[in-house]
Amino acid sequence: MSINIAIDGPAGAGKSTIAKKLAEELGYIYVDTGAMYRAMALYVLEHDINLEDEAAVAAACPDINIRIAFEDGTQCVYLNGENVNGRIRTEQISGMASKVSAQSAVRAHLLELQRSLARSADVIMDGRDIGTHVLPDAQVKIFLTASVKVRAERRYKEYLEKGQPAVLEEIEKEIRERDERDMNREIAPLKQAEDAVLVDTSSMDISQVVACIRQIIIEKTEQL
Ligand code: DC
Repeated sequence: MSINIAIDGPAGAGKSTIAKKLAEELGYIYVDTGAMYRAMALYVLEHDINLEDEAAVAAACPDINIRIAFEDGTQCVYLNGENVNGRIRTEQISGMASKVSAQSAVRAHLLELQRSLARSADVIMDGRDIGTHVLPDAQVKIFLTASVKVRAERRYKEYLEKGQPAVLEEIEKEIRERDERDMNREIAPLKQAEDAVLVDTSSMDISQVVACIRQIIIEKTEQL
């Protein structure tokens, strides 16, 4: 049986950075489910489908093939055969992914892909509903969070490091809106699973968070 580690939490809590490092260290495959919703959003954008029109988005789902491959340890998202990794990390796609992910047809479209990845290998999977919905039987569940202010500052620094223009106040507003949508949607909202360990990273740096979660994983998996 494969070992599944679920890391959920709001935008900018550091899930992907931490999950990537731990996966590499512990020999797991890192699965970023947010990237799958981002690829769905990219399709909707490029095909001029009205995001608010749930019936139109649902009708498009059979035409959207999302495939995940791991190349040199990095997850690549293929949208109808094209690697879209380089095109899904924009503010526009972030907002659209959050909206499109509230729709039941979209979630149903990605669920089996996510579960089959978890069946086929030891994974650290990050997202919003992994511990509560996608992998309710995951052996380790972490809920990673931080204050809105800290998360916005981290995102702001990331943009500046990449040489992309950014306005801190706008990022903070976008994060608040995304939290609101992701937590209050009807289907599979962002929330801590009852058996998840809460880790608030507001006053921790990356190495402290990695050490803290590594310890939780070791303790939980030793008992298996
Ligand atoms: O993790 P991320 O920022 O790349 O995710 C983009 C959006 O996708 C996020 O705002 C909500 C949605 N999402 C989701 O609903 N469920 C997941 N398991 C992962 C992401």
